[in-house]
Amino acid sequence: MPVITTIEDLHRIYRRRVPKMFYDYCETGSWTEQTFRDNCSDFAKIRLRQRVAVDMEGRSTATRMIGQDVAMPVALAPVGMTGMQAADGEIKAARAAEKFGVPFTLSTMSICSIEDVAAHTEKPFWFQLYVMRDQDYLANLIQRAKAANCSALVLTLDLQILGQRHKDIKNGLSAPPKMTIPTMANLATKWGWGLEMLQTKRRFFGNIIGHAKGVTDASSLVDWTASNFDPRLDWSQVRKLKEDWGGKLILKGILDAEDARRALDVGADAIIVSNHGGRQLDGALSSIRALPSILRAVGDQIEVHVDGGIRSGQDVLKAVALGATGTYIGRAFVYGLGAMGEAGVTRALKVIHKELDTTMALCGRKSIDGLDRDILLVPKDFEGDWA
Ligand SMILES: Cc1cc2nc3c(=O)[nH]c(=O)nc-3n(C[C@H](O)[C@H](O)[C@H](O)COP(=O)(O)O)c2cc1C
Repeated sequence: MPVITTIEDLHRIYRRRVPKMFYDYCETGSWTEQTFRDNCSDFAKIRLRQRVAVDMEGRSTATRMIGQDVAMPVALAPVGMTGMQAADGEIKAARAAEKFGVPFTLSTMSICSIEDVAAHTEKPFWFQLYVMRDQDYLANLIQRAKAANCSALVLTLDLQILGQRHKDIKNGLSAPPKMTIPTMANLATKWGWGLEMLQTKRRFFGNIIGHAKGVTDASSLVDWTASNFDPRLDWSQVRKLKEDWGGKLILKGILDAEDARRALDVGADAIIVSNHGGRQLDGALSSIRALPSILRAVGDQIEVHVDGGIRSGQDVLKAVALGATGTYIGRAFVYGLGAMGEAGVTRALKVIHKELDTTMALCGRKSIDGLDRDILLVPKDFEGDWA
């Protein structure tokens, strides 16, 4: 059993274990990947103030996100095709999150369906919605999320059209993988993954097959998804979706103060400052760099969450000290899942929790709610002087 002390340890095992097609799908950004890289490297530009001789006993990382108790301010981000990173991946990740006491967000583009995840978990999870052209399908999806008792709808706003990831095109990404010669050669070296995959029936997009009109098998699914993300999504539809849903609404993909004000206007409960993990607009600011201006615009009126580039508890601490109420991890939990299944997701959460707790203490603080910018050393030009 390898000794795991960092998210990078899980990443290395993940890379060896999972087929190249799905590793590449996770580990890429769009076009030149500038934003993808900046998401991580900008966190490293912020430093921490070491404080000493402060009583560190009785610390707690517990707090609340959209009114829900969380063991630490970290949720699992929605990740499409999680069930291709490990067999039954969404169920495994949701169970790990539930046991740890952090929210799990199920993607519209998941392999395990809403109903399937609900049947294998005890507490409500969050559902991420992509807006599709097919209005009947969309209305039904919202109803299904309500029926499964999902406690928040995370509406993704930054993917009306797809940013291009070169490797996905070159690899012929699909779920399940098409058996080309390069894919078969690669799969032959990933027998651990393959054996588990052979034992599950969950290998297609569970929220779509059998629910969307005319989609009954994998071949019709490809055409349907390619043409069904709705490019017409606008703020009036966001407002309407909020009414249709009727519960807690989190708007994901906000990277601009003006859009943050629009989100406030439509009555969202929280926003996620996000550039989709660098997978959509290449050249956009990193999330952590965009966060301060958005906090100045709306931070006292709405919960501001952030994702993108979080690979450690130190990153979580920096985001929260800047003013975020919560953070999300995408790739960090996928590495754990691909490396070791449910236990790997738990391991990823434990690594981040320990880093967060210890680093908070070494900054002289005992609780998440008491954190502020005072523990940070932020370069004067961090936000950039853009014209
Ligand atoms: C492989 C992969 C698939 C993703 N699929 C979705 C998705 O289905 N819906 C969504 O809103 N965001 C999706 N995202 C974006 C994540 O929710 C999140 O914004 C991003 O992963 C955060 O960056 P990080 O991976 O650096 O933590 C995906 C990200 C990755 C890496």
